[in-house]
Amino acid sequence: MRRQRILVVDDDRDILVSLAGLFKDKGYETLTASSAEDALGIVDTHDVSLVLLDVVMEGMDGIEALRRIKAIKPDLPVIMISGAATIDTAVTAIKLGAVDFVEKPFAPVDRLLITVENALKMNELQRKNVELLGELQKRRRMIGESEPMRRLRAEIAKAAPTNARVLITGENGTGKELVAAAIHENSSRCRGPFIKVNCAAIPKDLIESELFGHEKGAFTGASTPKEGKFELADGGTLLLDEIGDMNLETQAKLLRVLEEQEVERVGAKHPHKIDVRVISSTNKDLLAEIRKGNFREDLYFRISVIPIHVPPLRERKEDIPLLARHFIAMFCEENNRSLRELTEAAIQALMAYDWPGNVRELKNAIERLVIMVDRDKISEHDVHEVLPQSQPVPSHGTLTERIEAYERSLILSTLQETNWNIAKAAARLGVDRANLHRKLRRHGISRPDRPAS
Ligand SMILES: Nc1ncnc2c1ncn2[C@@H]1O[C@H](COP(=O)(O)OP(=O)(O)OP(=O)(O)O)[C@@H](O)[C@H]1O
Ligand SMILES: [Mg+2]
Repeated sequence: MRRQRILVVDDDRDILVSLAGLFKDKGYETLTASSAEDALGIVDTHDVSLVLLDVVMEGMDGIEALRRIKAIKPDLPVIMISGAATIDTAVTAIKLGAVDFVEKPFAPVDRLLITVENALKMNELQRKNVELLGELQKRRRMIGESEPMRRLRAEIAKAAPTNARVLITGENGTGKELVAAAIHENSSRCRGPFIKVNCAAIPKDLIESELFGHEKGAFTGASTPKEGKFELADGGTLLLDEIGDMNLETQAKLLRVLEEQEVERVGAKHPHKIDVRVISSTNKDLLAEIRKGNFREDLYFRISVIPIHVPPLRERKEDIPLLARHFIAMFCEENNRSLRELTEAAIQALMAYDWPGNVRELKNAIERLVIMVDRDKISEHDVHEVLPQSQPVPSHGTLTERIEAYERSLILSTLQETNWNIAKAAARLGVDRANLHRKLRRHGISRPDRPAS
């Protein structure tokens, strides 16, 4: 926590001296002013954490001073102190943004100290909150000026203010989650929660309790009641990520929740109403899944009132330079490195690659570049170093050798696409995990380590 500095403003010298002494004893730094005019000068030129402001003073009074302080530093907490306060002045002060009103004489002084401590704590929390929100917004910024990105932004702008359910489709790493967050942030629910649940990552027998919650004793292990994600998202937005991987049984329950707008915890006797906007996302072709009998058609229609498709990076290559520079700036800052630049040839090399893992793969590649390259300029050679070592299939050699080479490059690109998720890669290649592990060993493929920074 930064050092807290309190400014005490009063035209009564005795009060200034005694309060300054009191706060010094408690470890605060104190400044004093015996007029509102002096106080305004100090607020303007010094880094002050809190002001104690007398209401009745010669010259400018405390209420006018408060108004002016709020105009210069709206976030600075001000506590009014007064010997003869009327309810009216107190109300005016609170309306103008004072955090509290304490009456003189300060007996016991503990009450004043607690008020001061609380106001400082609250202010510190608010400051951190603003900082974190800014950080989050920076991370959630959607970069890209290509035609497909412009279209995507227009679709988001149209969908966001409505309450309609949105289905976001697109390959891995294209930015589906960012799109969902943007819809939430631009909706009337933006002050409500934005909750995400990954339907693929939760074991089948836990997913219902995760989504809908459970009552105490609903099943073995349910020793305390638990709120489900739907309840947590009440008043806000729920993102059902990887909905294409949800099992049929849960799909049926979800359908009922969406139809009735109410959830029933596992083991509960009664459902209760919820107000949640559902956004779903998937990298699967849900229509194909419906044909295969893996996804309910009625659920599909419920969740896809507004479908939004996020195009793969290879269809908007003009965004690559912008994205690359954005990520370079981000990772240089994160790793306390001076800003790197890409040579023209390096940009060309990034643009020549197809990015099967889309923006996430590009982001990971840039992170590795920022950490590994010590020079100011990132060259084409550096770029080739971090791109997957997928050698093209050799034009000579025996059939077996050439098939082996092809297999190797296929496995590598699938791993890149799935962000080195072995289970996903195995599923995509139609082999089991043990088999894929054997193949990795045989081909000498291992996950490129993040170099130590
Ligand atoms: N247009 C963009 N601008 C800036 N960053 C982006 C953009 N698109 C994606 N990213 C970043 O790339 C990463 C992957 O994005 P995100 O998680 O939204 O993808 P996804 O489509 O949900 O992927 P998956 O299908 O694997 O869940 C995130 O770190 C995200 O911040
Ligand atoms: Mg995602």
